[in-house]
Amino acid sequence: MQNLLVTGGAGFIGSNFVRYTLAHTDAKITVLDNLTYAGNLASLDGLPTDRFSFVKGDICDESLVDGLVAAHDVVVHYAAESHNDNSLHDPRPFLDTNIIGTYTLIQAARKYQKRFHHISTDEVYGDLELDDPQRFTENTPYNPSSPYSSTKAGSDLLVRAWARSFGLQATISNCSNNYGPYQHVEKFIPRQISNVIDGIRPKLYGNGENVRDWIHADDHSSAVLAIIDRGEIGETYLIGADGEKNNKEVVQLILSQFGLVEDAFDQVIDRPGHDLRYAIDSSKLRRELGWSPQFSNFEAGLADTIAWYRENEAWWRPQKAATEAKYQEQGQ
Ligand code: NAD
Ligand code: DAU
Repeated sequence: MQNLLVTGGAGFIGSNFVRYTLAHTDAKITVLDNLTYAGNLASLDGLPTDRFSFVKGDICDESLVDGLVAAHDVVVHYAAESHNDNSLHDPRPFLDTNIIGTYTLIQAARKYQKRFHHISTDEVYGDLELDDPQRFTENTPYNPSSPYSSTKAGSDLLVRAWARSFGLQATISNCSNNYGPYQHVEKFIPRQISNVIDGIRPKLYGNGENVRDWIHADDHSSAVLAIIDRGEIGETYLIGADGEKNNKEVVQLILSQFGLVEDAFDQVIDRPGHDLRYAIDSSKLRRELGWSPQFSNFEAGLADTIAWYRENEAWWRPQKAATEAKYQEQGQ
């Protein structure tokens, strides 16, 4: 049985990973999370207390991190400032958490020679043209566009340097856009679902042609477990489920699942520097670690996600008004 320290485990993907790992392995988990606006303890309700504990704290806190890393076998590092739009308005927290926080964790993992898995994003590779036949691979050069993605790229490079120079026992994964339960209503899919529930028209940035490569959060979790279990130290693995869709298609699917006409959305001011298209080639992960996604039908996964937001309004309602007020100020 392994003891995992999961940073950012009160966020969207981290909390899904915690639930998935408790259900599919016999691991014990400690979550370290400082509960920013994006962290929510309610996302961890009902977990077994003999296998799960929660520590409220900052990944930049050296002495806290030192003690926690020393007491665990594996660090799985999800904690981050994660929203591109926020990074365009106030980049500073992204530098603190994504760069200094990662530095603090890898220093401790190096000191105690602990296994470290770094969670990252496909956005480090920049974007692709709509008609580009290539997809991102582990060899695509880094070319991030936003303050968020540049800090994630910086954190990846720190982990790589610590692996090479100090023998850090690290792996890295870069995943595409996740969807599923417990995602903050600032993000695209939950924002539009909760808008429709509230009788607000979905908001598309620009012309809606931007493409994202959607993967269910549970498929991300199973891939991370495969990498922790049998990934090669020092390696990077891209995680994706062949889920390319443009934003307009996604909004239209949401509208049609609510029985609404497909053009009942608004086009709003585009995101500055808006990446056009992400697309992942995950053949290394599939070939070398035998991973494959379980949610191959996006429409079905989206229907489950819509049902979850309908049934769990108490989870997202407290964030909704402030989130929409912020977007309104930005003209979005
Ligand atoms: P999120 O914003 O929902 O959650 C982030 C969590 O980190 C929150 O619980 C927050 O409280 C915590 N946190 C932030 N700063 C912290 C700090 N200084 N100390 C301790 N905890 C802190 O993010 P998410 O969407 O779940 O993303 C999680 C990770 O996955 C990030 O590293 C992100 O870059 C990566 N990722 C996300 C996606 C996606 O589609 N959302 C895709 C690929 C990779
Ligand atoms: O690719 C992985 C990344 O996916 C992660 O690294 C990030 O943490 C995660 O937030 C996500 O980044 P995106 O910027 O792609 O996600 P977001 O949900 O903000 O937006 C998805 C797309 O939808 C993007 O093209 C912008 C667009 N959009 C977003 C919002 C909030 C809209 O058209 N309307 C909206 O209201």
